[in-house]
Amino acid sequence: MTVEVRYFSRGGNTKKLADAVAAEVGVAARPVSEPMEGRADMVFLCASVYAGGPDKSVLAFLRQNARDIGRIAVLSTSASGRSTHGRIKAAAEDVGVAVSDDFFHCPGTWTLFHKNRPNDEDCRSAAAFARAQLG
Ligand SMILES: Cc1cc2nc3c(=O)[nH]c(=O)nc-3n(C[C@H](O)[C@H](O)[C@H](O)COP(=O)(O)O)c2cc1C
Repeated sequence: MTVEVRYFSRGGNTKKLADAVAAEVGVAARPVSEPMEGRADMVFLCASVYAGGPDKSVLAFLRQNARDIGRIAVLSTSASGRSTHGRIKAAAEDVGVAVSDDFFHCPGTWTLFHKNRPNDEDCRSAAAFARAQLG
């Protein structure tokens, strides 16, 4: 099974999760700004909450690479809002890409909130989530 780990991260929190997942599945995490170079059976899409939803570059990545993505599993962080899973699932299904119903979400540092999150335990949980997704 070919696997990619992609992320959008303004401040580094989401990249931390992406790197933990990438280490678990044995690939390098890459930003969504880089196009896919081939087909991936599973894409771990690490996309946190900004102004209530995923960054527009995440949705652009889906549209531009739909034909090369077999399935997506979503990981995210936020200060308090819900996961981006719902928005990403709707957008992905619009372009014919399946998204796992299971997703990973944890708090992410924002201003004075959630200092040092995601922490090591969050990263271990994210890695375990990814492993379980691959069966
Ligand atoms: C511009 C901006 C907008 C944000 N909007 C929200 C939001 O609407 N709801 C929320 O719960 N968190 C919000 N956050 C907090 C981020 O989701 C949180 O800090 C996340 O961990 C950022 O990940 P990153 O460091 O990978 O960019 C926002 C953060 C930034 C920088």
